[in-house]
Amino acid sequence: MNQADAIPPSAPSQRQAAPPVTLTAAVGNKLSDEPSKQSGQPLLVLGFESSCDETGVALVEWQGQAVPRLLAHALYSQVEMHQAFGGVVPELASRDHIRRVLPLTTEVMASAGRRLDEVDVVAYTRGPGLAGALLVGAGLACALAAALDKPVLGVHHLEGHLLSPFLSADPPEFPFVALLVSGGHTQLMRVDGVGRYEMLGETIDDAAGEAFDKSAKLMGLGYPGGPALAALAAQGDPKAYALPRPLLHSGDLDFSFAGLKTAVLVQSQKMVAAYGAAIAPSEYTLASGATPGFGALPLQAQADLAASTQAAIADVLVKKSMTALKQTGLQRLVVAGGVGANRCLREQLNAQCAARGVRVHYPELHLCTDNGAMIALAAAMRLQSGMQVASRDYGFHVQPRWPLQSLQAA
Ligand code: KG4
Ligand code: ZN
Repeated sequence: MNQADAIPPSAPSQRQAAPPVTLTAAVGNKLSDEPSKQSGQPLLVLGFESSCDETGVALVEWQGQAVPRLLAHALYSQVEMHQAFGGVVPELASRDHIRRVLPLTTEVMASAGRRLDEVDVVAYTRGPGLAGALLVGAGLACALAAALDKPVLGVHHLEGHLLSPFLSADPPEFPFVALLVSGGHTQLMRVDGVGRYEMLGETIDDAAGEAFDKSAKLMGLGYPGGPALAALAAQGDPKAYALPRPLLHSGDLDFSFAGLKTAVLVQSQKMVAAYGAAIAPSEYTLASGATPGFGALPLQAQADLAASTQAAIADVLVKKSMTALKQTGLQRLVVAGGVGANRCLREQLNAQCAARGVRVHYPELHLCTDNGAMIALAAAMRLQSGMQVASRDYGFHVQPRWPLQSLQAA
């Protein structure tokens, strides 16, 4: 359906610099007919995130060119449910999003002290992610918007991560280099404004989050492995085992982490062999996917391997980020995505950036992993920058595979 109404872009100068991206065709200018929103009153965006295993709902408010403000957000993590299976089960994820999304919406509106009919735009994660899970958020957002007669806007999940530091107490300014490190993506980008993203380098195989998760699985740490591996690593020696730093000296800004998990597997097997005589066969029963016997090793040895793994991942991410800053000549780094919560990575980045006089920005710790706030924020910033209009296209579209670079196309 070709939609009737749209929120007008609000920054004509930026609109000329970069042509608007219209993900859903949109015409008209309904809000300009609504006197209540004419006089520069704040606009409310309700956002839904359901791309994987977190159900997130949030309400942000924006006015003019000020950075949008988070009024309330609520999150339900399905981690416990998926833990029994060692990873996300897509069908279970979709069903659980259905169960959680409405109560979370009620919670958000109550905590913001707003009514649903005050919402101006309903935003949802359009992709990338699990198709069934995305459909839950998209379906709910479009049904709600249709009932309220308000426009909708589908948001790119990674753009949500990328912009999430704007909700922090220390928001960045454009332009900056962005290190986007999530469970499925590892990318370095030059960011000149909302929707103006130039890919500088990315992983050619596993993402940094996958390297954490797969290594953690080998150590019997369950799912999701990143935080568990980081916790174990805190007691270990990062120099205990020399693990590979893939593509560290490649000269370009690409990453490769697939070889690291193999190195961790080989190292963990060597350690078990070395301690072999001391491990009773009964102690070999472990979590599925773990190196047999690893859990029976002395805790210090386990922690040393975890710390060495974390150091190998962090070293590569830090070195490539510094190279990206040097190549672009930019003085600002933004780190986003779940792995951005890693303390060791943050400490190294802080030290290296301080030595170079570079400002580094992170999302608030609780907004590093998936959440609705970043989706509502990204929608608000797209509208605010004039990169996109919201529309009354309620034929919800999801894009499970959706490269961030394609957002640049006019
Ligand atoms: O951004 P995110 O929540 O979801 C995706 O969009 O993928 O990232 C999840 C990833 C997982 O791989 C998880 O293990 C990792 O972020 N992660 C961490 C930490 N917290 C989350 N990795 C290392 N250290 C952490 N503290
Ligand atoms: Zn994510």
